[in-house]
Amino acid sequence: MAVGDLEIVHPRIERYLASLILQRDRVMMEMEARARREDIPIVGPVVGRLFYQLALMSRAKRVMELGSAIGYSTMWWARAVGGGGKVWYTDSDPTNARDARRYLKRGGVGDRVEILVGDALECMHRVKGKFDIVFCDIDKPGYPKAYAAAMRRLRRGGLLVCDNTLWKGRVAFGFVRAKRAPSTAAVQQFNRLAYAADDRAFATLIPLRDGVTVVVKR
Ligand SMILES: C[S@@+](CC[C@H](N)C(=O)[O-])C[C@H]1O[C@@H](n2cnc3c(N)ncnc32)[C@H](O)[C@@H]1O
Repeated sequence: MAVGDLEIVHPRIERYLASLILQRDRVMMEMEARARREDIPIVGPVVGRLFYQLALMSRAKRVMELGSAIGYSTMWWARAVGGGGKVWYTDSDPTNARDARRYLKRGGVGDRVEILVGDALECMHRVKGKFDIVFCDIDKPGYPKAYAAAMRRLRRGGLLVCDNTLWKGRVAFGFVRAKRAPSTAAVQQFNRLAYAADDRAFATLIPLRDGVTVVVKR
């Protein structure tokens, strides 16, 4: 973390939340260990569980993921949608995609995940039909564009879920500092779009880990 960045949740509370989660299989634990070792920014088990629950609550069967890395969050979505469901993995890095394919197969969900390599929004445009959930975790300058694209592709009642929407607390530090950091300005813009009072959507930013925004399309 850079100087001045904030822990959103006190580390002790983070550890407590993680300690409550008992059920994780070997493949997921292996991915978590690798992410810690190699500094791969995965959502982790506390947020992964939230995703699983959101998918169950909305009876999701079609999940589009924008920015999937080694497939850790993909695994949570894929387990939640069950055997009849489908998840689209996207990442611009073919090495990530190769590793993800192996993990997802070993995790028993390879058959319900389609792996797409390239720009996440372009990949989404190539897939036909509406989604129950779009999960956004791409590079932050892409967030405002992803908001508009995802909202167009969700069914009514579908969810746009977006990670890092508190962006290490930087979003709370006002316009001047944000102007120097395009990523912060983009996440702030995403949050304004998501919270804009309109009749298309309703959003809540959950201050879990680095902030997770859940938007329901009306
Ligand atoms: C934060 S990581 C994703 C972590 C993953 N969602 C998880 O929690 O397990 C972001 C990933 O998105 C990819 N990425 C960033 N911007 C992208 C874009 N515009 N199109 C496709 N992939 C992108 C990066 O290569 C990186 O692997």
